[in-house]
Amino acid sequence: MKTVLTRHYLFVLLMSFLMACGQPEEVKKGIISVIPQPNSIVQKHGYFKLNKSTQWLINDDEVKELVTYFSEKINTATGYQLSMSSDEPGSNFISINIDPSLNMTKEGYTVSVMKDFIHVASPTKHGLFYGLQTLLQLLPPDIEAKTELNNVNWKIPVVDIKDEPRFKWRGMHLDVCRHFVPVENIKKHLDMMAMFKMNTFHWHLTEDQAWRIEIKKYPLLTKVGSKRTEGEGFVSSGYYSQEEVKEIVKYAADRFITVVPEIELPGHALAALSAYPEYSCTGGPFEVRNVWGVEPDVFCAGKDETFEFLEDVIKEVVALFPSTYFHIGGDECSKERWEECLSCQRRIRRERLKDEHELQSYFIKRIEKVLLDHGKKMIGWDEILEGGLAESAAVMSWRGEKGGIEAANEGHDVVMTPGNWCYLDHYQGDYRVEPVAIGGYTTLEESYNYEPVPAELVEDKIKHVLGTQGNVWTEYMYTPELVEYRVYPRLIALAEVNWTQKEQKEYKQFVKRLDKQFVRLDHHNINYHIPLPEGPLNRVVYLDEAKLEFSNTRNYPMVYTTDGTLPTPKSKVYNKPLFFDEDQTVNIATLLVSGKMSKHREINVTKTKLIPATNVRTTKPGLAEEYVDGSFLNVSDLKKVRDWQTRDGVIDERGVKDRRLDYKTPSAHVFKGYISIPSDGIYEFQSNLDQLFLSNQLLIDNDGEVKRFSRNNTSVALAKGKHPIKLIYLNNVIGGWPQTWNGPKIQFRKMGKEDFITVNNDMYSN
Ligand code: ACM
Ligand code: ZN
Repeated sequence: MKTVLTRHYLFVLLMSFLMACGQPEEVKKGIISVIPQPNSIVQKHGYFKLNKSTQWLINDDEVKELVTYFSEKINTATGYQLSMSSDEPGSNFISINIDPSLNMTKEGYTVSVMKDFIHVASPTKHGLFYGLQTLLQLLPPDIEAKTELNNVNWKIPVVDIKDEPRFKWRGMHLDVCRHFVPVENIKKHLDMMAMFKMNTFHWHLTEDQAWRIEIKKYPLLTKVGSKRTEGEGFVSSGYYSQEEVKEIVKYAADRFITVVPEIELPGHALAALSAYPEYSCTGGPFEVRNVWGVEPDVFCAGKDETFEFLEDVIKEVVALFPSTYFHIGGDECSKERWEECLSCQRRIRRERLKDEHELQSYFIKRIEKVLLDHGKKMIGWDEILEGGLAESAAVMSWRGEKGGIEAANEGHDVVMTPGNWCYLDHYQGDYRVEPVAIGGYTTLEESYNYEPVPAELVEDKIKHVLGTQGNVWTEYMYTPELVEYRVYPRLIALAEVNWTQKEQKEYKQFVKRLDKQFVRLDHHNINYHIPLPEGPLNRVVYLDEAKLEFSNTRNYPMVYTTDGTLPTPKSKVYNKPLFFDEDQTVNIATLLVSGKMSKHREINVTKTKLIPATNVRTTKPGLAEEYVDGSFLNVSDLKKVRDWQTRDGVIDERGVKDRRLDYKTPSAHVFKGYISIPSDGIYEFQSNLDQLFLSNQLLIDNDGEVKRFSRNNTSVALAKGKHPIKLIYLNNVIGGWPQTWNGPKIQFRKMGKEDFITVNNDMYSN
């Protein structure tokens, strides 16, 4: 049995290898770059030349609108006004055919490019749309230009493509609550989705931190619920009127994208409860949550009024969204309030439910009925499995694959979105050089290599896997540009996961094909992620000779200067470690094939000596602390403090807990004393504190930044022994992150060591 299995496995492996090797050379080299990779592509010799006389050949008025969409795009970039004809012109035409007899699914298509003409065919308009997207991708990437370009040879390689998607649900989720995303920016994402043949936009519209959709019967949902007073004091706001929702839904539909709304229940509901506290267990009052994380106050499951309210909301929402699916959230619902609530407990007794988990299931099933009455199918996060899954529900598996497997095995449809591959809010490079993110680490390669069908699923359940999507939670995406930075190109990798049969996928080829796609993205002004040079910190100190070794997550070339000027694509290419024995500034950036560069990094290299230890005699363990109550956003705000109080400082997580520091009662803390350094050497320090002074140098300065993670690590040369230290810790909320959630943390590692050591209170004295 074992040998048969092994042989079978080897055969599959060999076939996969042969099929991947079977791609035309031009695809392998990225010269033909279609993403998602078509499932069958055969290249022949020669090109079709698009010119001003090329005509559309149309036999069906139904496709006119579709062709106009592409014709206008072509016109913008080329200046050519391609005319439409219903008589075959003989040559130099692009025929567009709906052909129901084609043996493929409704999103499938064929594109046959000959030297004299092109045929695009599909059983449906939807498939034709994708065929024409492929045609655009066969043209030079400048076809996406927003102004006419005259020096481009608009040629299309002679190919035969037969293509259809692997999965039905090819999605992008977008949380517009943690940070509002304006209509124009959503349209940009929809354009990108269409370009990469994605068909589902999951619009996460309500949260603890904001309610973003106008509901006419409950105007306070947006009047109150869409505004949040941030920790810094300013008001963040924004919502979509029903007219704007219709505009988005139409814009998406024109691109064959279905918009699935998400109205979160029973948890993640504080914004709604701030507007209508009567639907909570306690009656409030509440304010829209201004820190990230999950709120304990949720919709009351005991009151019938809660369900009447939600029914009214759903009624208005379904009228705006023609999608079959309706997402009800269902994740991370705290049971704290339900445990204490008379109405909720009464419901548990009367409905003979076992516990609050079954109460959650009761809640979801009651909403399921409402949706079914409106002809909608319910989908929710995998917590809706808790206490028993509603009969008709589909599940979105996010806490790994377990929920998806369980639901599919029970015969429910599932969308697989496990965090390790599909959470596009994760870091995609070194946290010390990337903009602050929620955590995690998901490279482009990891997203690309996601396999949506879990190995555990038995054959007849595989059909329940609808597909996958990228989830975009925007806590740490403070601007629409940062959303783009996180989303692209990882979403494009997931587009290929969803579309292309796994035997046709190959990461290295995909990365080559991306080179041209980046030019398309540039024409749409998309702020996609370009890997940054990683390795050295911004400040490098050394004793004898400095060795700087750089890398980036995609092995792209890097260019650098050492004369203080900014790097250009023509600067020296980094190809081996750099050595220095004097002070230097290195400016280095990653370079794409297109000539576009990443942001540059400036590395200051300084020759130094060990800072000698002091021989001060200290008498007490720990640090001395000065503290004061009040709101301080920046270190400079401390200048005005006159009445510091003092105590023995405990500068670790225990210290924060013991002192019950809470972001709702802000304060400032300054710790002073000495730190014992174990041996001579160069040390890298990292900290989430606002400032860290060591031997009277400002070593780490996070002043005014979001302190979720330290991004300002610094190195310093220290002799063994005691060194004066001063720490500034502001208990405030910046960028939605309360400093108290971390506890003050200082870590160090000696140069060359992998692991950081956390400084504990015993290393301090004063
Ligand atoms: C989720 O990420 N809470 C679904
Ligand atoms: Zn209740």
